[in-house]
Amino acid sequence: MEKTRVAVLVSGGGTNLQAIIDKVADGSLPQVELVKVIASKESAYALERAAKAGIETAVAKEQPQVLEELEGSGAEIIVLAGYMKVLSPEIIKKYRNRIINIHPSLIPKYCGKGFYGIRVHNAVIAAGEKESGATVHYVDEGVDTGEIILQEKVPVLEGDTPEDLAARVLKTEHVILAEGLKIAIQNLEKEGIE
Ligand code: GAR
Repeated sequence: MEKTRVAVLVSGGGTNLQAIIDKVADGSLPQVELVKVIASKESAYALERAAKAGIETAVAKEQPQVLEELEGSGAEIIVLAGYMKVLSPEIIKKYRNRIINIHPSLIPKYCGKGFYGIRVHNAVIAAGEKESGATVHYVDEGVDTGEIILQEKVPVLEGDTPEDLAARVLKTEHVILAEGLKIAIQNLEKEGIE
């Protein structure tokens, strides 16, 4: 099977990255070759996960550097897995329909500027929502505005803390991010045929 070169952008712990690494290792993502993990800061634990898996790593704090790393990696698809920066219009333009993001809410709810990480779950609980979820979407020039690829609901339970909800949503993220990546690769292949 022809593999698609995938780069992953991270900022934090990297459990979503780990989910992809594990699925590549156990054969459930046979179409993926992880070519590089690029972090927005040195302290991102995701870098250690990547190194352990034998994947090339880089730290790129500014967007021109990110673009350089992406170009150098020959990535065909880019996955934002807990990447807490907004990509430059230059990168979006160069990789249009080739960048996907995982977001820990049911977009269009609780997304956009200011809604990231635990802040999302704080807001969901404060609003008394009965359900939340996770979304995989394409990345365009806006913040969390690109076309939705996959979405899955997760219940908010009585007495949940934001951390409880975050943990429950994260489990779903790990599943749908890999599924969303498969779909993005399929879409890319279709594009190539047409
Ligand atoms: C995940 O919940 C991800 O959806 C979220 O950050 C967490 C990263 O966890 N991303 C955003 O909020 C982006 N707006 P991880 O580093 O363990 O994958």
